[in-house]
Amino acid sequence: MTDQVTAAESGTTDIPGKPTSASRTTLSHIMTHNDTNLLGTVHGGVIMKLVDDAAGAVAGRHSGGPAVTASMDEMVFLEPVRVGDLVHVKAQVNWTGRTSMEVGVRVLAERWNESAPATQVGSAYLVFAAVDADGKPRVVPQVVPETERDERRYQEAQIRRTHRLARRRAIRELRERRIAEGYEH
Ligand SMILES: CC(C)(COP(=O)(O)OP(=O)(O)OC[C@H]1O[C@@H](n2cnc3c(N)ncnc32)[C@H](O)[C@@H]1OP(=O)(O)O)[C@@H](O)C(=O)NCCC(=O)NCCS
Repeated sequence: MTDQVTAAESGTTDIPGKPTSASRTTLSHIMTHNDTNLLGTVHGGVIMKLVDDAAGAVAGRHSGGPAVTASMDEMVFLEPVRVGDLVHVKAQVNWTGRTSMEVGVRVLAERWNESAPATQVGSAYLVFAAVDADGKPRVVPQVVPETERDERRYQEAQIRRTHRLARRRAIRELRERRIAEGYEH
């Protein structure tokens, strides 16, 4: 695993790593009329809440304590979800930094009126920061990918991490430059 942040690099040598399967989880929920938008299908925000809940449970289990959502990326809705559908939200830690974790989430729906396999209806990537009692970031155990798929997800998460940091830095620099040039205050 050549690209993986080592425990020594991340300053976490005294915390044993944790396998992906130790915190992976599924949250299941039947959609009701309370969950609908004006079109009568399920509101995207309802699905996003379930995604955040499942990812938060995984982040808390992996890090062994409280963790807060720092960002949510690439929330994709592939198919509408309907009242009566049984929605499964599957989450796992894809990658760990020093104090943050990327959690990958897949959303599946079992249609209430079909005996077909569950359909994937969405996906998202969330970054959680583990925090202490004062809300300050705390060091997390490194995730240990167990399968080829876990390994691929780890490497993809590192690409997203690199892009998030680069985008944030570029935007900050642009804003500072515009302020320095007198366009904005
Ligand atoms: C997330 C939070 C703890 C980060 O605190 P901070 O003082 O900026 O601390 P840091 O800069 O050291 O960031 C901590 C980690 O989170 C990561 N992080 C912070 N903001 C991030 C963002 N927007 N996207 C991705 N990662 C982020 C950092 O890269 C760092 O990871 P690392 O230690 O693995 O390298 C802080 O911004 C916070 O409390 N936000 C509110 C969270 C919340 O309340 N969420 C619920 C929404 S209501």
